[in-house]
Amino acid sequence: MAEVRDAEFLNLHDVEACARDVLDPATFAFLAGGAGDEVTLRRNRAAFERCRLVPRVLVDVGAATTATTVLGRPAAMPVVVAPMGIQRAVHPEGECATARAAAAGGTTLCLSNISTCAPADVAAAGGPWWQQLYSWRDHGLTRGVVEQAEACGAEAIVLTVDSGVVPRRERALRAGFAFPDTLEVPVCGGRTPADLHVQVDVTLSWSTFERIAGLTRLPLVLKGILSPADAALACEHGVAGIVVSNHGGRQLDGTPAPLEVLAAVVEAVAGRAEVLLDSGVRRGTDVLAALALGARAVMVGRPVIYALAAAGEAGVARVLELLRAEIEQGLTLLGCTSPDDVGQEHVLIGATW
Ligand code: FNR
Repeated sequence: MAEVRDAEFLNLHDVEACARDVLDPATFAFLAGGAGDEVTLRRNRAAFERCRLVPRVLVDVGAATTATTVLGRPAAMPVVVAPMGIQRAVHPEGECATARAAAAGGTTLCLSNISTCAPADVAAAGGPWWQQLYSWRDHGLTRGVVEQAEACGAEAIVLTVDSGVVPRRERALRAGFAFPDTLEVPVCGGRTPADLHVQVDVTLSWSTFERIAGLTRLPLVLKGILSPADAALACEHGVAGIVVSNHGGRQLDGTPAPLEVLAAVVEAVAGRAEVLLDSGVRRGTDVLAALALGARAVMVGRPVIYALAAAGEAGVARVLELLRAEIEQGLTLLGCTSPDDVGQEHVLIGATW
């Protein structure tokens, strides 16, 4: 494994510059960019920056731990690696390297449906993993992904529901990005990412959800919910979890940051499912803000793929350890001994800002 020097990246912001140094500009633009004017992309960060954490003091935090559970499974910290496709476009070991780093860090990996490594190879890393799923026009393709995930030991199916179409992402277009036609997606029978792009099912509805739910006994998670009404419907349909997400600002530009709607979603869910959040998480303190507003855990996207590009498995391991250490330090300073201790009293948001 490549050595990752402290000076190269001290935090999850720095790793972006490391990736920019090693990637061709078009690939970097594809990873970093968002949809439209990238208003939502910026809003995701702005929301975390506006959030105020309120520490409690004179609490004995000598035994603080970042350990928790996510969907009932022990985790070293309240963080899951977000699903991101075509990782072999940035590193030859692709999703397998990410999976090994996640397993070593005690973190669940959510494997993209557009993974360029096979589920069996990812499972060989030995850590817990979830299979992210798109609903495909070809129902056989959707069923095949679920069957392989179950056969290879996935612990949940994460259906992404914010991607009925893939919008024009102008930063990537301007830089000349095209999906490499040398890469295949094994879980989709070796189709190329470009083939799959046009296979996304724009008719996805609650009846599609019922059909997909009927394919599996694994817990189902819906990723890409922002409306409390949809969160309530998801619970009525029996989901185990919800990921409050705007896809890292890559889908509908103009949406709120997940952090802005999190408390309302948590209220609508009313304990019926676990609520996760992603989009813009870069600091341990961001994770604490999400926990304070009721999230069970967060997903982290771009910093992981940047680290993979910059330093492979060691880079991803470094990102996860930096985040874990920041969460631990933040918990201590917030006056909490574990993620479960973090609550509404630790945060100011919205009208009180
Ligand atoms: C993604 N994301 C994504 N989501 C998903 O459900 N399936 C996928 O295949 C992908 N692929 C993908 C590729 C790349 C390059 C990026 C950057 C993102 C979205 C991802 O899971 C997550 O929602 C966001 O990345 C979270 O925001 P941050 O942490 O990147 O700001």
